[in-house]
Amino acid sequence: MSHFPQLRLRRLRRSDPLRKLVRETRLDIADLVYPLFVTEGSGQKQEIASMPGIFRHPLARLPQEIAEIAELGIPAVILFGIPDHKDEVGSSAYHPKGVIQQAVGSIKKTAPELVVITDVCLCEYTSHGHCGILVNDYVDNDKTLPLLAKTAVSHAGAGADIVAPSDMMDGRVRAIRQALDEAQFHDTPILAYAAKYASAFYGPFREAADSTPSSGDRRSYQMDPPNWREALREVEQDIAEGADMVMVKPALAYLDVLQRVRRRFNHPLAAYNVSGEYAMVKAAARHGGLDERTMTLEILTAIKRAGADIIISYHAKDAARWLSEA
Ligand code: PBG
Repeated sequence: MSHFPQLRLRRLRRSDPLRKLVRETRLDIADLVYPLFVTEGSGQKQEIASMPGIFRHPLARLPQEIAEIAELGIPAVILFGIPDHKDEVGSSAYHPKGVIQQAVGSIKKTAPELVVITDVCLCEYTSHGHCGILVNDYVDNDKTLPLLAKTAVSHAGAGADIVAPSDMMDGRVRAIRQALDEAQFHDTPILAYAAKYASAFYGPFREAADSTPSSGDRRSYQMDPPNWREALREVEQDIAEGADMVMVKPALAYLDVLQRVRRRFNHPLAAYNVSGEYAMVKAAARHGGLDERTMTLEILTAIKRAGADIIISYHAKDAARWLSEA
């Protein structure tokens, strides 16, 4: 057994090539997924106040943005729609000419190779901003399922490569799998937002997607932040229902959950580095004198080290640029 002074761990840290040789985790552009907010119509792209560098993209301007993403070598995007029309049942979510359905078609024309993931949820499409149907002010689980299934089928029909339910209703993965199979979309995989917590870190997203619930909050369906065993049960359940990939969300305050899911399950695992996490980095870089590039790459690497195979991040474009320079 070797101890100091024979053992000197600093020996392997003496130079950059040496450090690279013994590096245990490598962040890769191929790990990244870039989230996109899409609005109907034309006009200019609009920056989201709390998320500098992130925009709502009108459908007509999407090709430009997609070309840039593809050029950077980012393999996938995840789409969020901001419809003109909202109602009690979120009908724009499953309208054949809905904003996402059109966006998928447009992206497939610009960059056929880019993997298109669609977020399947009702909150951006309902007038009340909840992720499901309200019955007596309570989000009704079972009445919501057929609408989620319909939305997923409609996304697949438009050409989505992967559907990603983020609503946190029980039984949604089974309902979606069944509906996809019945519609002959056997080959469309499901990425389940399996362990999604009721988090304060979604604040900027709700501004971007205009999806803040008009009454109450999401704590009766999203997970309670103190729980990790329950996260394993959620993942187990989604896998049993047919999820091809699972997700933990948010990432940073839940790296322990990510690691536990990694250890227990063999499915591809995604982590969502959410809007509030991005906003914190941007604010710290602007006001606190922290170095944005080093800080961002350190964060993304930590998410990978904790066990993520796939990292969904608003930093993806910047990170891709930095990684290709390094
Ligand atoms: C829709 C959805 C949300 C996010 C992803 N899908 C918002 C929410 O649950 O309130 C959050 C993403 C982010 O904060 O970046 N249900």
